[in-house]
Amino acid sequence: MEFVGAHILSVGQFDRGDIERIFSVADDLRPYATRRRVTRVLQGAILSNMFFEPSTRTRISFGSAFNLLGGEVRETTEVKASSLAKGESLHDTARVLSGYADVIVMRHPETGSVAEFAEASRVPVINGGDGPNEHPSQALLDLYTIKQEITARGRGIDNLRIALVGDLKYGRAVHSLCKLLSLYDDVTYHLVSPPELEVPPDIDEHLRARGHVVNTYHDLETGIHNVDILYVTRTQEERFPTQEEADRYRGLFRLNQHIYTQNCEPNTVIMHPLPRDSRATAQELDADLDQNPNLAIFRQTDNGVIVRMALFALVLDVADQVHDYAQPVTWYTAKRTPG
Ligand code: NCD
Repeated sequence: MEFVGAHILSVGQFDRGDIERIFSVADDLRPYATRRRVTRVLQGAILSNMFFEPSTRTRISFGSAFNLLGGEVRETTEVKASSLAKGESLHDTARVLSGYADVIVMRHPETGSVAEFAEASRVPVINGGDGPNEHPSQALLDLYTIKQEITARGRGIDNLRIALVGDLKYGRAVHSLCKLLSLYDDVTYHLVSPPELEVPPDIDEHLRARGHVVNTYHDLETGIHNVDILYVTRTQEERFPTQEEADRYRGLFRLNQHIYTQNCEPNTVIMHPLPRDSRATAQELDADLDQNPNLAIFRQTDNGVIVRMALFALVLDVADQVHDYAQPVTWYTAKRTPG
């Protein structure tokens, strides 16, 4: 695809070459993401971060990514703090905001809303999650992490065996990741969920049509055998018609160290888009896994900044100039404890 000036709305826009391009720019930006180098390549540019649904890591990491390239960030974090609450259409909001910013990241509770918004925008729009539909930047950072973890284990993404566990019906991170992985060869998907929360039929058909093996399981312990990656997700409570219905599924599937040891191959990578639901009634990913070196959840979140920097650099056409605008780190040296 042509990245320059493009909206990033769905993983369906990408082919394998596009993904390689994003990952190679991401690799190149790592020293800037980790504050070993500084660049001002986006100095003067403005990101409008429009989040009409709760978000911690997606919003902050998009903002940090833009700041780390030298740009400024403006944010709205609630519908009631924006003119959408006064009845303004997505069209008008997009037309107005694109006069104020150079790029817009938007999260909204409705499927298709970000695409509708993008149609009226005069600047590139990146989908930060549109209801239960898609979350393309999450899928990219997940795939980037999978590549790192799998490469470290001496393998590649082709022939990957992955178990996706939890609420596969409403989980947009799962939907985007499933589709993105389908670009590779001979993937084996273990789709592990309660019967009522299976992946939408169109995604299931898409994976099978591409020739991948798709196995459906309704039991956690059976579904997590013989895989390279375990991708666990939270019940998307906010998407259910009623709270009572959501309550039925909370805590049904809980991965802990004991279940992992009993059922998984050694060194199976454990991932989660986060947030994990740590309430006693949920705990789909138990804290007793925190010392397990195969738990990649915080490597995922760190990678979120790098991959989002790459998206901005490509869409705003500065990927080749990042180093030209590099500066010596004189005013601040990052200090972090390892881990
Ligand atoms: C995910 C989302 O918002 O879809 N979170 C995220 O962006 N990392 C997953 C979730 O909320 O469960």
